[in-house]
Amino acid sequence: MAETMENIGYYNGTFAPIEKLMLPALDRGVYFGDGVYEALRVEQHRFFALNEHLARFRASLAFLRIDFPLTDEALTAILQEAADRVDSDSQQLYFQVTRGTAMRTHSFPEHASANLMILSRAVPLADLSEYRRVTVLPDTRWGHCNIKSLNLIPSVLAAQAAKERGCSEAVFHRDGIVSECSSSNLLMLKNGVLHTAPADERILPGVTRAHFLMLAGRLNIPVEETAFSLAQMMDADELMITSTSVHGVPVGFVDDAPVCGRDSARLRRLQKAYRDYFWDELGIAARV
Ligand code: PDD
Repeated sequence: MAETMENIGYYNGTFAPIEKLMLPALDRGVYFGDGVYEALRVEQHRFFALNEHLARFRASLAFLRIDFPLTDEALTAILQEAADRVDSDSQQLYFQVTRGTAMRTHSFPEHASANLMILSRAVPLADLSEYRRVTVLPDTRWGHCNIKSLNLIPSVLAAQAAKERGCSEAVFHRDGIVSECSSSNLLMLKNGVLHTAPADERILPGVTRAHFLMLAGRLNIPVEETAFSLAQMMDADELMITSTSVHGVPVGFVDDAPVCGRDSARLRRLQKAYRDYFWDELGIAARV
């Protein structure tokens, strides 16, 4: 096996440290963001929820009409090789597929074939006990937020605005109705019920979100997949941000207003159920 490294990049068959990875200027990802991506957790070189990520990846490819010739098995073998080349036991692996490399013309090029890029590096698991501060912004994204396309400008601007306000996430709303956050979903506990926006075109159907809803069922916590308003959010018993990177972290402030903290026992049960499920699925003895 190749020597392991701190991080790894891959582009169409070539591995290199991320900082040295090169790709052609005419990759349509560079000038159109014409591609799709996924981000996965890798623990002890094992993938968490790989099948769910691959299913969403295929749905994103189909929506963008990108012809990606690799089977799931062939793709998985390359992802595994990338993960195995990184020393760390706790990685975040990102991969993207673009439509191909061609002169810049908006319509699909005739003879281009898809490009695969992978980036994997050490990222520790999030601390689940830390209450986060979020801000609120209008959701200015396109009408297909369920597709994991590379075009992320509204999310990038929102994340930066959140950072400038001393917040770790931005909650998006459309006309006062909460959709999700710039790079995570938002779940709310109110009167013992777990609420979150439905998985339609307004949100990314998060793999983590789906796991939390499934686990809530196992814990006999009723689930309501109905969008809630900003006013309801401010009156939540608990709010939780969910994603591959953060798992499920609680919210303590919306800008300067303290929120939540009224159903912490139920919140902690959900968080524990998630972490147990995470380690179980990976076949690793629970670490946290
Ligand atoms: N975020 N909503 C948006 C807009 C996202 O970008 C993400 C993922 C999620 C959560 O999806 P999942 O639970 O499948 O990761 C929701 C990136 C990849 C992340 O922060 O991990």
